[in-house]
Amino acid sequence: MKKIAVLTSGGDAPGMNACIRAVVLTAKANGLNVVGYQHGYQGLLDQDYVELDELGVDHIIHRGGTILRTARCKAFHEDGAAQQAAQNLNALNIDGLVIIGGDGSFRGAVHLSKYWNGKIIGCPGTIDNDIDGTDATIGYYTAIDTALNAIDKVRDTAEAFDRVFLVEVMGRHSGFIALSCAIGSGAEHVLVPELDKQLSIGDLAEKVKTIKQKPTGTSTVIIVAENIWPNGVHDLSESLQAQTGFECRPVVLGHVQRGGSPVSLDRILATEMGVFAVESLIKGEHGMMVGEINHKMTLFPLEETGNKTKRLDDYLVHAQRLMS
Ligand code: F6P
Repeated sequence: MKKIAVLTSGGDAPGMNACIRAVVLTAKANGLNVVGYQHGYQGLLDQDYVELDELGVDHIIHRGGTILRTARCKAFHEDGAAQQAAQNLNALNIDGLVIIGGDGSFRGAVHLSKYWNGKIIGCPGTIDNDIDGTDATIGYYTAIDTALNAIDKVRDTAEAFDRVFLVEVMGRHSGFIALSCAIGSGAEHVLVPELDKQLSIGDLAEKVKTIKQKPTGTSTVIIVAENIWPNGVHDLSESLQAQTGFECRPVVLGHVQRGGSPVSLDRILATEMGVFAVESLIKGEHGMMVGEINHKMTLFPLEETGNKTKRLDDYLVHAQRLMS
């Protein structure tokens, strides 16, 4: 192996830069050349890349976003696109590719490997933590902290007015961020897709009335995973107010959760994953995602990362329910 490439794809996540840095420094320490493709798979199609060396990744470990930019490249699902990408990789004599992204990015990797003979390793980078084969994904811990910072502020105003707040957090179709935020903020209730698919406004209204009757029920904060209520959290809040008579307010945290400087856990996780990804390529591994299970680096087949819905931590669910 003489030359590798790295790209970031899908939603950016704090810690992606730390991972890019680790990939480049590990490659250089092993005498490999590195190129970074810009804007994810789109860069692979357009042969849009930069040469990366130690200087290019200097002082980026603390920066959010991704220096390589990112994209969601729908065109890449076509066979012709994967063939074009394979040609472009071969034209640059790339032997190995590190893809930092989420499950959509890994589907792209599997698609590419049908047409390209080089070796591919994935690093899970998404705030959603919805990828099987790793306890945590790069960016997840920072997103929780960013959301908690905002939720603590919501609590202050909720308490001042004795109001009910519904705070929507990201997660696409998974409740990892929501559950962790509920635990971390001491929220009175949480709604996650894994457990609340059949959410009924009547049940939620009863729950809120019960909470409000408790001596601690002055302010009520409910963390809501995005996409859980068909018409969104504003509609949910209005319906809840109509049903309960309590003043309800919606807050959508949105893309704020994707930005910011990565917290220590993400910097360390991303660095370990980047180092392990390159060392795995050098050992000849292919078609695998780097994961961390019980604090140990592991490899998990890329093809299986999206096979089943990653399960929420049962004990965290138990703890949240016990306390609310
Ligand atoms: O990166 C994951 C994620 O932030 C999801 O939580 C969210 O549903 C989605 O991306 C938003 O994507 P976009 O930025 O393309 O609107």
